[in-house]
Amino acid sequence: MAKRSTTFVCQTCGATSPRWVGKCESCGEWNSFVEEVAGGSIGTSVFGQKGRPMRKGRVVPLVALSGEIEQAPRLASGIAELDRVTGGGFVRGSALLVGGDPGIGKSTLLIQAAATLAQKGARVVYISGEEAVAQVRLRAERLGLASAPVSLAAETSVEDILTTLQDGPAPDFVVIDSIQTLWSELVEAGPGTVAQVRTAAQAMVRYAKESGATVVLVGHVTKDGSIAGPRVVEHMVDAVLYFEGDGARHFRVLRSVKNRFGPTDEIGVFEMTGLGLKEVPNPSALFMGERDASAAGAAVFAGMEGTRPMLVEIQALVAPTSLGTPRRAVVGWDGNRLSMILAVLEAHCGVRFGQHDVYLAVAGGLRIQEPAADLAVAAALVSSLAGVPLGHDCVYFGEVSLSGAVRPVAHAASRLKEAEKLGFVRAVAPKAGAGESAGAAIKRAQVAQLVDLVTRIAAGGVPERERRAAHG
Ligand code: TYD
Ligand code: MG
Repeated sequence: MAKRSTTFVCQTCGATSPRWVGKCESCGEWNSFVEEVAGGSIGTSVFGQKGRPMRKGRVVPLVALSGEIEQAPRLASGIAELDRVTGGGFVRGSALLVGGDPGIGKSTLLIQAAATLAQKGARVVYISGEEAVAQVRLRAERLGLASAPVSLAAETSVEDILTTLQDGPAPDFVVIDSIQTLWSELVEAGPGTVAQVRTAAQAMVRYAKESGATVVLVGHVTKDGSIAGPRVVEHMVDAVLYFEGDGARHFRVLRSVKNRFGPTDEIGVFEMTGLGLKEVPNPSALFMGERDASAAGAAVFAGMEGTRPMLVEIQALVAPTSLGTPRRAVVGWDGNRLSMILAVLEAHCGVRFGQHDVYLAVAGGLRIQEPAADLAVAAALVSSLAGVPLGHDCVYFGEVSLSGAVRPVAHAASRLKEAEKLGFVRAVAPKAGAGESAGAAIKRAQVAQLVDLVTRIAAGGVPERERRAAHG
């Protein structure tokens, strides 16, 4: 039988199939298969073509683990919020992927980082595959960075880019904006396809390792939040940062989701202004919403983002439904987690939501992943259902288990300190853990069961029984 020259590749996960199929077996995506020339897919790349006899390899020198490290390992940008997310600066010889929706500010962030690095004496190359030189210049001028010694080119050919980078003095920092626009002659597929993105990323990652330069690849994100193109790009690079935010608002969050050289739970907060991205060193105020203490359904969550405490307002709207199946909608939190809290409230606290639509939102468009938000979510839900405002001076945190118990969470002391700093005087939280210092001056009401919280809210404040218990 004649050998097939084309293969079908899932544009979401990179799975291959000899035939076109409607649904990808491996990732479940519909309509994601695209025909690609077999030479450019799995197992082949700039490193060699399938089917060719393997050349005899050369001996690679093996070295000791200890030894001289030639360059300073990190390249700090001087933009504190960015350095926090990378773990103290860009690591030399590493490749990063910066993902985000179109228009969120990836190019702005990177031109600012590039310019600051260049002003500090690093050799910086910015390759724009999306915008013309004039457009990038215009932006730099607007940002007041036009005088920074950044070397700029508008180019999309992988071969030309690599040759350019290898010509002349080696750069310290290279930005490729974006990986989806690059194409290599070795692959017979259009730019943006899995094969092209993979080959281009592989070539750029290899360049970073060989040259010692930091290479930042910009990537677009699809609707469901994954970086368009193969997931393998995420595996190839040393760090993956997501730049996210709510289009209508001006702040942006840079989040590390993978980092071989640093923490993955840190976030950097920026504000998009007319003069580019400005750092927000104290973001709590930003995520508190325009607080109306007399309104029911809002609870302030004392959260943590990495090592940084952050207060966030959680808003709930519980309203009688006109539908057979009530609606549950959630923005900024996990929908399954909401269902769980609703179920625990029904099963253990006798609070019924069966005839109500439930809407939950995290103020400011932040996305919360911590289970410690459970208690604040429950408080907002009960407050909205009962029509009882929670007061303006109280924060909530704690994890809720399926049994209805409120579990302790980490970093209670930092959470309380941040709340105190922002003028809160009370906290509703789980019992303090063993080694936990009770130093904070904030009044801590301890709840062991979710039902205690419900009783508390229903009573419109601190129930007498609990007050006695807390003082006894
Ligand atoms: P951009 O960096 O081009 O986004 P991306 O590269 O992620 O697609 O950002 C574009 C948006 O940012 C655009 O809507 C305009 C806005 N913006 C400002 O508000 N102020 C500025 O100083 C700049 C440069 C952009
Ligand atoms: Mg851009």
